[in-house]
Order: sequence, then C-alpha cells, then structure tokens
Amino acid sequence: MRAVDLIRKKRDGQELTAEEIGFLVRGYSEGRIPDYQMSAWAMAVYYQGMSARETADLTMAMASSGETIDLSSIRGVKVDKHSTGGVGDKTTIVLGPLVAAAGVPVAKMSGRGLGHTGGTIDKLEAISGFSVELGKDRFFRQVNEIGLAVVGQTGNMTPADKKLYALRDVTATVDSIPLIASSVMSKKIAAGADAIVLDVKTGSGAFMKTLEDSIRLAKAMVDIGTQVGRRTVAVISDMDQPLGYAIGNALEIKEAVATLRGEGPADLEEVCLILASHMLILGGKAADEEEAYALLKAKLQSGEALDKLKGMVSAQGGDTSQIDRLDLLPSAELQIEVRSERSGYVDSIQAEEIGLAAMMLGAGRETKDSVIDLGAGVELRKKIGDPVEIGDTLAMLHVNRDRESGRAEAERRVLGAYGISGTKVPRRPLVFALVT
Ligand code: URA
Repeated sequence: MRAVDLIRKKRDGQELTAEEIGFLVRGYSEGRIPDYQMSAWAMAVYYQGMSARETADLTMAMASSGETIDLSSIRGVKVDKHSTGGVGDKTTIVLGPLVAAAGVPVAKMSGRGLGHTGGTIDKLEAISGFSVELGKDRFFRQVNEIGLAVVGQTGNMTPADKKLYALRDVTATVDSIPLIASSVMSKKIAAGADAIVLDVKTGSGAFMKTLEDSIRLAKAMVDIGTQVGRRTVAVISDMDQPLGYAIGNALEIKEAVATLRGEGPADLEEVCLILASHMLILGGKAADEEEAYALLKAKLQSGEALDKLKGMVSAQGGDTSQIDRLDLLPSAELQIEVRSERSGYVDSIQAEEIGLAAMMLGAGRETKDSVIDLGAGVELRKKIGDPVEIGDTLAMLHVNRDRESGRAEAERRVLGAYGISGTKVPRRPLVFALVT
C-alpha cells in the first residue's frame, strides 16, 4: 500500500477501506508517513467528506493508536459526557456529583483550558490540595467507593489524534465534520466509556456557529457511537452567550457549588439537569427524561449532590472547607466594573470575546505553557434579554495587580462583546435539539 494512492483515491471521492485508513493512521502516528502526505489526505477529506463507515473506522484507528482505559473493574454502566467546548462551561462540576448521587458511576477524564475556553481540571485545581493525578488503581477504587472521580488525561492516549489535530490546526483542515467527529469520539472510546452523552454547543462562542452545522456534527458523532457499539446521544445546547455568569477558575467553582446548593443561575442548572437526565437514562437508572429529571432534582434539593462533590474533593486531597465557605477560594485583589455606554436591552454577548478577556486577566492560557491565575476572570452582571441603563454594570473584571496590564484590553473586549438594542429580544432556548 502507498500513501499517495490513498490520497488520490480520497481526492477522487472514493471510499477508503478500514485497512487503508488503518495504514494511514498507523503510518502517520509511527512516523512513516510524512506531514505533507497526511495534510494532503486531510484536505482531500475536507473537500470530499467521509462515509459514516469510514468515519467510524478512522475513529477506531485513532482510539487504538495508544493507551486505552479499561473501566471494567468499575461496577455499573460507565457513562461519559463530552462538551464541544464553550465559555463558562462548568457543567462537569455540577452534573458529575448529580449523576453519581443518582447511582451512575462517573469516571471522568477532563482536559485543561487553552485560549478562550477553560478546562475542568484547571477549575478543580482552584480548590487547595485537589489532585488531578490519581493513578489508575486509585482512580478506579475511588469511583467504586464514592461513585465519582475527575482526573486529568493520563498516559499516552490517542497519540494519532494529537498529531493529526496539530497538523489540521496549521493546514486549515480543523473544520471538517468527519475529522472533528472522529477526533472527539476516539478520545471518548479510548477513555473506556460504555455510553456517551455529547453536549454539542451552538452559537457565537461555539465551534459550530449555526444550528444546522451543530446538528450535522452531532449526527456524525452519534453515528460513530452506534457503529462501534457505544450508545451515544447528543444534546444541542446554546453557546450564544456564556453559560451562567462566571468565567474564570475559582469563580466557576463558586458558581458550580451555588448550583449544587440550589442557588445557581437558572440556565446552568437547567442544562446540567438535561445532560444529567440523559446520562441517567443511558446508565439504566431512569426510563425516560421525566423520571430522570425528577430524580436529579430531588438529589439537588436534598443536598446529596453537594455531598458527593465534597466526597470527591476530600478523596482527592482537596480542602472541603472551601466548598462550605466559598470566600476561602482564591480571589483577585481588584474588582473592576465595566459600565454600559448605552441603554436598551442586551441582545447578544459574544462569548468568545468574554473568554479572551478572561484569558487576558490571567484566567486562561495564551499558550500551552502559560501559568494561569486561579482567582482571575470575568463575572457577568447582565445576560441576553436584560434591560440596561447607561452607567449600569455589565460585568466585573477580577484581576490581580501583577496582571493589571491586561485590564484595559479586557475591558474593551467585554464592552465590545455586549450588543445592546432598543427593543427587547426574546430569550433563546437553552436546548435546541436532541440527536439520538
Ligand atoms: N475538538 C477535538 O477534540 N477535536 C477536533 O477536531 C475539534 C475539536
């Protein structure tokens, strides 16, 4: 087999066999196929697409390119959740404990943030002492004992995806639906999930800006799950504005804990309950959405979900007094108001701009090696549909003195992110569709 023949075959719109896809993925991952050939193939896929069968074969070839996690020593159906990324997305920190409290084991591997998006692992590290590196045995034992563990990605998982994603990033081939779908699903499959709930974000702050594209991506991922025997459902949720009000690591922990106390923002609570409902159904603990929702709501109201979070924090070496007293979490020295220069109603909030503003204050990473400031971030005071007068506070910037240089730029971005019009806009739905 020769890479050039497979590039030509795809360029001409033909389907590759599983063997041919395996040859390309293994050859690239092991260094026999050079970047220039793999990028030509990725561009051919960008234009010609891939069939559902080819996409599933690519997924499995990447999933098996490195270490895979065997979760079989954990009792029960292991349901994973994946978000395609957004701003202020702290759903894992809320729904992990919720789902675990309802009896579905959560063995979650999460990532770190880069650019305008945050990462669950960074957020959890805002809790003093919280360890995200447990080692496999301890990870499995904790899930068997308390039903919940959230750790960073371990070992050498999906190296072929890492290499191909980096190549796509510099060859304008990231936004290809089969390539995105196989990249995401390969990681979930390597992480050992029996079933997967996908939170596919749509809107200005999401990878997919239109509902149509979001549904296409969701269908491609659900198709892969079906073909490889992992039950998968996708919820298409709104990312036309940040989720909740808090963007920044400790700020998001505070908001997640408030939500588990039943005092959080309505949008965050609702999205978490919907995603968690599907996790419960796939985990066999509820027959339908109505039953799942009622069970989860009861776990929230009884305080059992909050207790689960505390149980996880304690088991992973974190300081639980910071969950009881949120003022003990890291905070920034300065809180600066961003005031509106117009009056009317908020009709849009560019989530990506808010994420970049938070990054400039130190809450996010500009490059993989940047050091983040756990107390920094942006706290919105107005969301879409809210009335605003000139001089009203739109948002608060949380910044430490050593990062004050980013303040002016962050202020400008936050102000520019808000669209304000003379007429009240209807609130957007939180969830647009369910793809099964
Ligand atoms: N996220 C991924 O993990 N892979 C992609 O290709 C795009 C987004």
